[in-house]
Amino acid sequence: MTIQLKTQVAIVGAGPSGLLLGQLLHRAGIDNVVVERQSADYVAARIRAGVLEQVTVDLLREAGVDQRMHREGLPHDGFDLLFKGQRHRIDLHALTQRRVMVYGQTEVTRDLMQARQAAGLPSHYEVEDVRIDGLQGSIAEVTGQHQGQALRIQADFVAGCDGYHGVSRSCIPADVLRTYEKVYPFGWLGMLADVPPVSDELIYANTERGFALCSMRSRTRSRYYVQVPSSERVENWSDEAFWDELARRLDPQAASHLTRGPALEKSVAPLRSFVAEPMRWGRLFLAGDAAHIVPPTGAKGLNLAAADVGYLWQALSAYYQSGQSQALDAYAERCLRRVWRAERFSWWFTSLMHQLPAEGEFGQKIQEAELDYLVHSEAASKALAENYVGLPL
Ligand code: APR
Ligand code: PHB
Repeated sequence: MTIQLKTQVAIVGAGPSGLLLGQLLHRAGIDNVVVERQSADYVAARIRAGVLEQVTVDLLREAGVDQRMHREGLPHDGFDLLFKGQRHRIDLHALTQRRVMVYGQTEVTRDLMQARQAAGLPSHYEVEDVRIDGLQGSIAEVTGQHQGQALRIQADFVAGCDGYHGVSRSCIPADVLRTYEKVYPFGWLGMLADVPPVSDELIYANTERGFALCSMRSRTRSRYYVQVPSSERVENWSDEAFWDELARRLDPQAASHLTRGPALEKSVAPLRSFVAEPMRWGRLFLAGDAAHIVPPTGAKGLNLAAADVGYLWQALSAYYQSGQSQALDAYAERCLRRVWRAERFSWWFTSLMHQLPAEGEFGQKIQEAELDYLVHSEAASKALAENYVGLPL
């Protein structure tokens, strides 16, 4: 038996991009169906970055899923840069009159999943062999298999929200698709632990031993990272070894405040910059990680995904309200302009904060000089702060 469905927008992927788009479209009265390869439990448990720009916070409010974030999230007015053994505060609020919200992507995803379920919107998890057809025709079609049953969805449009490893990007013919990529020769070893954060705000550290980041999920849950070679295996790191290495990369005051505890999770993530162009092909619109990846320094990944979704939601709303397709036609260009600016910032912040093996001691000195300039020049601090809190939509 085949399950046959008709909808306005078929959304491939139930990550934050797909789920946020689904919720925004639903509130605009636009039907949508979500198709996801993994199980709902798997999607709800993934751990990723946790700093939300105002633009993302506003979209979550628009989607009606901001209550828990406002209750449990931590608004931050600044962060610390640590270099040459000293911390310097970047006062985001004084520099930009804006702040960021520290609230984990895992929680954002859970809130979105719950809202989708509460609204009774159709979601199909554990769908294998997803295929997308008809993108240049009069109707698009998404097909797949769920527990031996065929699924067939006809839609006006397909939102490719299926992440870096998804299928939707590959629907764009090879002679049309262009990709740009940079792979960094290091990764982040991350650890999550139920211990109070070492400081009230995030600390980004440049040290001769490599980069470190002190982040948090709440006042009782910390998220820490240390730069490691990209070939590093997580099995080589006991909890104690991680804590020792993190402490060595902090200033004495922070190191003495570090509360240690058992890891809830530990993993190594590679760092990559990637952009695919165009982001639209016929009835297909790519959004989020399906079209672009940034290295995590500065936490732009989720925010960039949310901005794409914001543009797509506006364009689809305009189309269904008035039949006008100008905004849909402008989608790819609008997104890519913002994407490349965030790519530039993430690449720059990554290059500034990490040990770059090819650059040697000269590179380290240049980084320290730039950091010194950054924290002592208001113009330079402002440029950092403006990008960190997020450029306007
Ligand atoms: N069919 C259906 N679903 C798929 C397929 C497929 N062939 N391939 C992948 N998916 C699903 C994945 O299982 C995942 O749940 O698409 C979803 C994509 O989610 P994400 O990878 O989280 O991407 P996105 O929603 O764009 O979120 C961007 O995630 O990686 C972070 O830094 C990134 O924070 C940013 C955010
Ligand atoms: C995180 O909390 O996981 C995090 C925070 C800030 C970053 C990257 C990751 O820049």
